[in-house]
Amino acid sequence: MAKTASLQIDDKAYNLPVIQGTEGEMAVDTRRLRAESGYICFDQGYGNTGSCDSQITYLDGDNGILRHRGYPIEQLAEHSDFVETAYLVIYGELPTEKQRRDFGTLLRKNAAIETQMQRIFEGFPDDAPPMAMLSSIVASLAAHYPELATNSFEKDLQNFDLAAAMAISKLRTIGAMIYRYQNGMPYVHPKDIPFCENFLHMMFSEPYKDYVAEPEVAKALNLLLLLHADHEQNCSTSTVRMVGSSAANLFTSLSAGISALSGPLHGGANTAVMNMLQMIHDEGDDGTRFIEAAKSGNKSTRLMGFGHAVYRNFDPRAKIIGEACEKVLAKLGIEDPLLAIARNLEQAALKDDYFLSRKLYPNVDFYSGIIMRALGIPVNMFTVIFAIGRAPGWIANWREVASQPKGRIYRPRQIYTGPVTRDYVPMDKRG
Ligand code: ACO
Repeated sequence: MAKTASLQIDDKAYNLPVIQGTEGEMAVDTRRLRAESGYICFDQGYGNTGSCDSQITYLDGDNGILRHRGYPIEQLAEHSDFVETAYLVIYGELPTEKQRRDFGTLLRKNAAIETQMQRIFEGFPDDAPPMAMLSSIVASLAAHYPELATNSFEKDLQNFDLAAAMAISKLRTIGAMIYRYQNGMPYVHPKDIPFCENFLHMMFSEPYKDYVAEPEVAKALNLLLLLHADHEQNCSTSTVRMVGSSAANLFTSLSAGISALSGPLHGGANTAVMNMLQMIHDEGDDGTRFIEAAKSGNKSTRLMGFGHAVYRNFDPRAKIIGEACEKVLAKLGIEDPLLAIARNLEQAALKDDYFLSRKLYPNVDFYSGIIMRALGIPVNMFTVIFAIGRAPGWIANWREVASQPKGRIYRPRQIYTGPVTRDYVPMDKRG
């Protein structure tokens, strides 16, 4: 018999259906509660609200589990690369050899930014925040490719493969161009080379001297992007779904996701970690003094890169990236004093009752900045790299919304706490 939950309000009981996910997660379906009782569910910030069902990513924060389409993140990190994982996240299955080749070709064919679009860059101050530039320029894709951005689910889905490949590939190119623009360097055109190598080529090539990425460098970037490919219903992904639910096209929805990611509480944490490590270093501390300050409960001295809204155990991505960080720096022959500080902080926190009792463990951002720094990526570009990595997850979520035959526009309700009704006061009678 189907399970139900019972909710008693005053003298009336309401039977609510129970929904179960494929991994056994349970939810009480309250969709009909308002119609039947007049009550809504109140859950500020949606912390305990399932806003959708989804087949893309499974995340169990209590047990430190992350799987895309069923595949554990640890296996993907070990055996896959960013482009293959992007395909998996978007299309639901690992690609066959031919599918992988065709996908790669589509990405390469759609990597360039046309001259007309390049002029958009010139409209920005050269110290504009990179994420502000990125969200604006990605939104402009809808204007440049109107045939792929009709705001009709049916038509946009017919062109989905091309739009998705364009979004992934061009977002990466735009990211590199933002870096070049801000540094007063001429743009470098994409080449017919793999995805990450191409990004590094467009970032770091010099006049008459092509940048050719060392295999370790390309591998590290691949891992970094792969680990960010999707993360269930986080702020930016839910934003993409919300905007997409109005039948807004893929590019417009992605631009909204980029804007959501730009906030320091979401995509900006990796920058905050680097600033914290640099400050500790500049003050001649090895982390010992800072870890004490971090226990004060004061938000300004929090141990950045520790704690997570949903992981109450370790963040599985942090484990992978922490190990990779050590290896990448060793292979590149880089001795970064910030890595030593990070290790000290981690070791001290993992022995300290303050952090253990609050279930505060390193998150993905704790080590990602150190890897990016080793690759030569400046701190103000960190969130752009995050956005390039997260694009597949946003695209897959947009597609899921667009493909639901009975989908409805996302439209939560609220509890109003403002003034009750009152009469309009003419200007001469106010104050
Ligand atoms: N350092 C020190 N103390 C902390 C930290 C931290 N990083 N994080 C939480 N705490 C403490 C709080 O002071 C609070 O203590 P109290 O119970 O004595 O009052 C307790 O732990 C619970 O804190 P909350 O803020 O309620 O935890 P929440 O789960 O809401 O916050 C968050 C999660 C925002 C990630 C928080 O841990 C934090 O600010 N971390 C640092 C920033 C960071 O790394 N963000 C990246 C997240 S990952 C991502 O977005 C990709």
